[in-house]
Amino acid sequence: MTDTTDTTESHAVAFPQNRTCPYHPPTAYDPLREARPLARITLYDGRPVWLVTGHALARTLLADPRLSSDRTRPGFPAPNARFAAVRNRKTALLGVDDPEHRVQRRMMVPSFTLRRAAELRPEIQRIVDERLDAMIAHGAPAELVSAFALPIPSMVICALLGVPYADHDFFEEQSRRLLRGPTAADTMDARDQLEAYFAELIDRKQKQPEPGDGVLDELVHQQLRDGELDHEEVIALATILLVAGHETTANMISLGTFTLLQHPDRLAELRATPALLPDAVEELMRMLSIADGLLRVAVEDIETDGGTIRAGDGVVFSTSVINRDDAVYSDPDTLDWHRPTRHHVAFGFGIHQCLGQNLARAEMEIALRTLFDRLPHLRLAVPAEEIPFKPGDTIQGMLELPVTW
Ligand code: HEM
Repeated sequence: MTDTTDTTESHAVAFPQNRTCPYHPPTAYDPLREARPLARITLYDGRPVWLVTGHALARTLLADPRLSSDRTRPGFPAPNARFAAVRNRKTALLGVDDPEHRVQRRMMVPSFTLRRAAELRPEIQRIVDERLDAMIAHGAPAELVSAFALPIPSMVICALLGVPYADHDFFEEQSRRLLRGPTAADTMDARDQLEAYFAELIDRKQKQPEPGDGVLDELVHQQLRDGELDHEEVIALATILLVAGHETTANMISLGTFTLLQHPDRLAELRATPALLPDAVEELMRMLSIADGLLRVAVEDIETDGGTIRAGDGVVFSTSVINRDDAVYSDPDTLDWHRPTRHHVAFGFGIHQCLGQNLARAEMEIALRTLFDRLPHLRLAVPAEEIPFKPGDTIQGMLELPVTW
């Protein structure tokens, strides 16, 4: 086994970079796609770290406890200055290792099972119908992100958690600043504001004699009361569930719609055979890989078939590159839901694999099916090249999506 730690450092590709097409990895990653399963990259601050690019190695390493998700550990990689600014804050689930992670995850799992997502489907359908009614009543053209893609997951996660949707302008804005604020100070302020908001909401819920039926009500009236969680932990859980629960799915709905409109033959097939929709959603997840850059730090040396990762080394997983590994997916740059696509890592893998994936799948299926059913002539309202999408150092998606019908 060779140690490649200090080879080709000076030629390392900078990561992350902006996509050139919103549904393909940046062309600047082409050398990384050739260098499977492991490559060297440099982060925004010039720091060299490992980039996992091979599908098999990614699944092995994402399940390896020698890679830590604890952002407060020295050497933990930061994709930008915003992330670096808040990495010492308590981040529930995503930012903790076992055994702490296992305890938190066990508490949350019952609210995010396949069965729970199935029970929520009628409510999701009601929300989707209501948004489309409003959009159609307002008349074409419409901006699909603000009229449809963002409010749906936002309303659903509010209902599930027991957060008042009336506060959505506030928390959508803070999530936006947290994930893509202009400065690190802005990101820290957004985090402060969200935490203060939840401290107050939790306080209000504690004073209610009977719990409401949201996930947060349960946490407050059981785990907090019984001392299984402290106040700070409930705030940290609420923050991650709310932010992860609406931003990500909103991006998949907007970018998924854009991608389907850019593939009219595929869209026609989907309209003719709606039973293909679950496979189509999975293939869109693979192809779009919107959470592109999962972060870990090695706590011990790890021998891999691409080199030796040393204790203290930063490790980044490019889901967009991993999900286009041609050893697993033939013709990986093509949108094709007839291929087996289930093993993608767009929801992660291992103990941190997305807690909300059943819910996200239900939302994406219902939103896309209903949108294309009710608006059979849906199309872009401006040329595709003019539509702005998100920069590479945040979750990928459309900034705006002007449509007409
Ligand atoms: C299509 C939409 C979504 C995508 C692409 C997505 C993607 C991901 C990915 C890649 C991870 C793993 C991160 C890592 O290993 O570093 C993750 C974890 C997580 N996701 Fe999602 N997610 C989505 C929707 C949701 C929703 C709706 C929720 C609802 C609350 C959610 C909650 C979480 C949580 C809590 C974690 C951390 C789990 C843990 O550490 O145990 N996600 N997600």
